[in-house]
Amino acid sequence: MEKFYYEIPSIARKNEAIEYINEFYEYKSDIHGTGGLQRFLDNYEGWLEKLEEDYKREPNEEKVPARTYFLIRSNDNKIIGMINIRLALNERLKKYGGHIGYSIRPKERGKGYNKINLYLGLKICKEYGIEKVFMDADKENPASWKTMESLGGINIREYYDDENAHCIVKDYEIHINDSIKNNSTIYEPMIEKVTLNKDIEKDYEL
Ligand SMILES: CC(C)(COP(=O)(O)OP(=O)(O)OC[C@H]1O[C@@H](n2cnc3c(N)ncnc32)[C@H](O)[C@@H]1OP(=O)(O)O)[C@@H](O)C(=O)NCCC(=O)NCCS
Repeated sequence: MEKFYYEIPSIARKNEAIEYINEFYEYKSDIHGTGGLQRFLDNYEGWLEKLEEDYKREPNEEKVPARTYFLIRSNDNKIIGMINIRLALNERLKKYGGHIGYSIRPKERGKGYNKINLYLGLKICKEYGIEKVFMDADKENPASWKTMESLGGINIREYYDDENAHCIVKDYEIHINDSIKNNSTIYEPMIEKVTLNKDIEKDYEL
């Protein structure tokens, strides 16, 4: 059976991480959940520093603390996807963007991997004390909102967003405990380990 885990980005994956982003360009794919890696292809070390700053940040209306992970497939030790988890929401993210952004590399899509990605992401959110996740997706991106629905996401709103996405956006809520309880039989056997760096614990307003 294939197994997966999250890895906190480090210098060890420099070449592979750049390759990951280049695959999106090759396939002309949207890029999400990367913590901005695509803007640091010539400064990977700078990106690692940025991720540490992202994590330690105090939440404000501009930015919030966040964690970015590589989703690794243990069997071949390969980056399959990424996720960016916002550990607190400001007013802007409560309206658009929500807690989680994610991606699966183009050559590995359609295999159910993003559902594993979100399940693992929900487990991380739970560790950080988040009970209910807010997420959204463009209506024309069914692979994204079907991932949410598959993990128990409740479609709470659908609206035309003329400010950010300029298309119809679907808003979702996921109750983490319910989702984990209802999906653990499927996904727990596929999880190698749960990575969490709790060296800096803070009480965020969630
Ligand atoms: C969105 C994304 C992460 C989905 O990854 P994926 O690994 O292909 O998704 P999965 O295989 O886990 O499929 C998840 C669900 O979407 C469905 N799905 C997958 N690809 C689909 C497609 N092209 N069209 C319609 N539905 C699709 C699957 O059937 C599954 O639903 P189900 O459980 O009801 O069968 C991937 O397409 C991606 O990285 N896109 C670019 C970045 C992005 O748009 N991120 C989301 C915005 S933050």
